[in-house]
Amino acid sequence: MAPELPDAIMRTEGLHKSFQRNHVLKGIDLEFKRAATTVVMGPSGCGKSVMLKHLIGLLKPDAGKVWFDQDRIDQVPEAQLGPYRRRIGFLFQQGALFDSMSVGANVAFPLREHSEMSESERSERVETMLEMVGMPGTQDRNPATLSGGQRKRVALARAIVLQPEIVLYDEPTTGLDPIRSDIIGELISRLQEALQLTSIVVTHDVQLSFRIADRMVLLQEGRIHMQGSPETFRTTEDPSVRRFLEGRATPEELAGLQPVEGEEPTA
Ligand SMILES: Nc1ncnc2c1ncn2[C@@H]1O[C@H](COP(=O)(O)OP(=O)(O)OP(=O)(O)O)[C@@H](O)[C@H]1O
Ligand SMILES: [Mg+2]
Repeated sequence: MAPELPDAIMRTEGLHKSFQRNHVLKGIDLEFKRAATTVVMGPSGCGKSVMLKHLIGLLKPDAGKVWFDQDRIDQVPEAQLGPYRRRIGFLFQQGALFDSMSVGANVAFPLREHSEMSESERSERVETMLEMVGMPGTQDRNPATLSGGQRKRVALARAIVLQPEIVLYDEPTTGLDPIRSDIIGELISRLQEALQLTSIVVTHDVQLSFRIADRMVLLQEGRIHMQGSPETFRTTEDPSVRRFLEGRATPEELAGLQPVEGEEPTA
């Protein structure tokens, strides 16, 4: 009988990271469950993208550990990270498609880099992936001619083309209208189910979070403020969590705004 797989496929322990004097991550302990969707929320600048980059070894912690299955990925030298990264799809916050390449070539790019597939196997896989994200037959399009939502979907096809076990999504819905965001949410859920993916989604889109999360985490100023089931978040009376979920600024945050020109300064 195969040994039972541990519940968490990725784990961080006591993660600290500073950039010069800016102490961004202040001791992050997180577990990401296998074949589940964990959503990490938090205000802009709280360290979400920095946390995510530690999970694929793009950043190294100042202190703490990052586990990928049984391996300490934070200790793997850059040159040996390839086999790990092949198991992880990454949808970057900036979506970054190569505008000099067709949609098909963009999606095929990781296959060229990391697989031994033949030309025809590659084009078959690309076709399947584009179908999965609802962009069938767009191989020959130039990415520059696509809308923001279409670009996100192509980037998503590229992130999953190597059939990774884990997909990291950094702000998958930023810049999309609510309908497009809903479509991306649906895609994330479907891929998770169809491929039994482990999904780690960083976002401040509250609606998306509740739509897809099995587990939710709220980061605030480099610390975990709260984590638990969507139900825990829905029913919490923690004032700062409620403010975040409802999108309400504190009086202090509003008072920090400069008066708009021509406006009487308040108090
Ligand atoms: N490579 C870097 N060098 C220096 N500072 C950085 C670097 N990357 C991030 N930071 C700083 O770390 C802090 C957290 O950044 P991060 O990108 O993780 O925020 P975020 O939570 O993802 O915000 P957003 O929701 O706006 O994407 C910010 O103060 C940012 O300026
Ligand atoms: Mg970010």
